[in-house]
Amino acid sequence: MRKKIVAGNWKMNCNLAETKLLLEGLTQHLPNQITAEVIVSPAFTNLHYAFENLKETPIHVASQNIHENDSGAFTGEISASMLKAVGVSHAIIGHSERREIYNESDALLQAKVNQSLANEITPLFCVGEKLPAREAGQHFEVVKQQIEKATFHLSAQEFKKIVVAYEPVWAIGTGKTASPEQAQEMHKFIRDLIAQNYTETVADEISILYGGSVKPANAKEIFSMPDVDGGLIGGASLKADDFIEIIKSI
Ligand code: PGA
Repeated sequence: MRKKIVAGNWKMNCNLAETKLLLEGLTQHLPNQITAEVIVSPAFTNLHYAFENLKETPIHVASQNIHENDSGAFTGEISASMLKAVGVSHAIIGHSERREIYNESDALLQAKVNQSLANEITPLFCVGEKLPAREAGQHFEVVKQQIEKATFHLSAQEFKKIVVAYEPVWAIGTGKTASPEQAQEMHKFIRDLIAQNYTETVADEISILYGGSVKPANAKEIFSMPDVDGGLIGGASLKADDFIEIIKSI
């Protein structure tokens, strides 16, 4: 059985005091029985605090980015081993905002995936097409390229350690969600692609998350799709009650 995962992408939100409040809200109200692995991703400055305060809980801590080198003259950057040392277990890699605003290329993302795995940090590897590609019917090809170029160099053993997140760019922060059928169609496509490149068994083991305007009101329907194994949640992960409702929808 592959893992169900609900991960919050906090983006550049929440200072230390706000992080404390949000984590308190989550830990106080998280139900005892949860079927999903829960992950939060505070800003770099609050990762250590988050880890220390979540140690006794089932909530894992992710970074929102990772650097592709071990160490050295990269002013302003943070390495995977630094993240690992403060308790980070997962890293969001290839989010569309980083691809778009920071020009992160497939080659760079491949190096980030490698670096993450080398440090035993699970990549939450994001893919997704922009609206013009969807409208032109090129969405499958775009996602195929993104996955192939940054992750298909991995051995099957390595690939099994990654989590894929499908986030159509037109659905991120727009309030416009992919329909459950659109999500299922793409998730199935991704799983088939993995099966072709590796094996059916590998494909069956990979958790594929959906992201893009997931809210308490639509989570259940999206999560009920057979190839949707959870979600990467932006805006709604910043409200403890909403995030918990989403976790309960799995
Ligand atoms: P959203 O963001 O839930 O606010 O649409 C999702 C994401 O960017 O991961």
